[in-house]
Amino acid sequence: MPSVLVRAFKEEDEARVIELWTFAGLIRPWNDPKKDIARKLQVQRELFLVAELEGVLVGTVMAGYDGHRGWVNYLAVDIGQRRRGIGTALMRDVERRLKRFGCPKLNLQIRRENTAVQAFYAALGFKEDAAVSMGKRLEED
Ligand SMILES: CC(C)(COP(=O)(O)OP(=O)(O)OC[C@H]1O[C@@H](n2cnc3c(N)ncnc32)[C@H](O)[C@@H]1OP(=O)(O)O)[C@@H](O)C(=O)NCCC(=O)NCCS
Repeated sequence: MPSVLVRAFKEEDEARVIELWTFAGLIRPWNDPKKDIARKLQVQRELFLVAELEGVLVGTVMAGYDGHRGWVNYLAVDIGQRRRGIGTALMRDVERRLKRFGCPKLNLQIRRENTAVQAFYAALGFKEDAAVSMGKRLEED
């Protein structure tokens, strides 16, 4: 198994990243992926990571630290490269980077219908929080 390189997102990765998100089922009509990327490049862009395998972009993760919690979004691995530790490598890297900010806890949201991914996060030590997730849009995409 060739080794995975985890690195920061670069502007030229955009089309491939959006392709990965599309195939991974992460795109929603109310989230414009180009706008999401543009916003992220304005705020802690060093926490927007991609995974490369032999020069091919095969995974992504977008994280942020709000001064209290770290948050993870857009974790995706190419469907043909799953179960090879790439998702784990991305999450481990994000955890390392968030710790450097002094972040004490990492949170994430899982869409209700995405039951498969719960086993992945559990394998990484995540536990379900006793919390109801709520949201409010401040800008329509
Ligand atoms: C979630 C995702 C990123 C995992 O990536 P991955 O590279 O396949 O994950 P890993 O190979 O690092 O998996 C590590 C461990 O997690 C668990 N795991 C991963 N995927 C799993 C699945 N579908 N079912 C059960 N357990 C799973 C296993 O314990 C696995 O170890 P093993 O392969 O030795 O059994 C990938 O499945 C994906 O892109 N899913 C679609 C997008 C998505 O749902 N993103 C998360 C939104 S919240």
